[in-house]
Amino acid sequence: MTKKSGFIESKIRIAVLVSGGGTNLQALIDAQKSGAIKSAKIVAVISNNRDAYALERAETAGIKNFIVPKSGENAETEILHILDTEKIDLIVLAGFMMILSEKFTSRYAHRIINVHPSLIPSFCGKGFYGLRVHEAALGYGVKLTGATVHFVNEIPDGGAIIMQKAVAVQEGDDAKTLQARVMKEAEHIILPRAVEAVAAEMLAEKQPNA
Ligand code: GRF
Repeated sequence: MTKKSGFIESKIRIAVLVSGGGTNLQALIDAQKSGAIKSAKIVAVISNNRDAYALERAETAGIKNFIVPKSGENAETEILHILDTEKIDLIVLAGFMMILSEKFTSRYAHRIINVHPSLIPSFCGKGFYGLRVHEAALGYGVKLTGATVHFVNEIPDGGAIIMQKAVAVQEGDDAKTLQARVMKEAEHIILPRAVEAVAAEMLAEKQPNA
């Protein structure tokens, strides 16, 4: 919380980390605009991919955005510096394709959340990302898949689950059609809801007598 023009700015400050198209970022931006997210404010978008369309989305929404080229430890150091400077309270990974070290995740314990395109513990962990997740679900022949929002720790997709939403696999689905449906009918719905839930809880802790 920071003092601003005489009022206490009572919003959790969020940084969204991205690598790709940014449809989950857009869902968060739209939720903030509609008031579905009212306890938090997206104040920074950080991408490890200079070509990420997510950066365009941030620009259009007037959100400060940073490019940190992916390069392991150096990238983390630079990201941590931005998080400090922007006084970030909560980090949201939205299609962010870099595994964060334990040093990083322990620094922000229970303050990093991620959206994964399956019902964890199915089809998650090392190597399960993007289309590969949906290829594995189709390969196994599951009738239901979906998305999970969870806290991030040092184990890929290993943190406590916050919210999940199921999506039926349809006859004739391929990985692309399934990915699109899971994004539209699950990810883009539960990520804003989970962000608001976690931010509201954080705010209550910050302002116990509010
Ligand atoms: C999404 O399926 C997300 O679950 C996964 O990366 C994909 C890209 O999402 N982590 P976005 O369009 O960049 O938000």
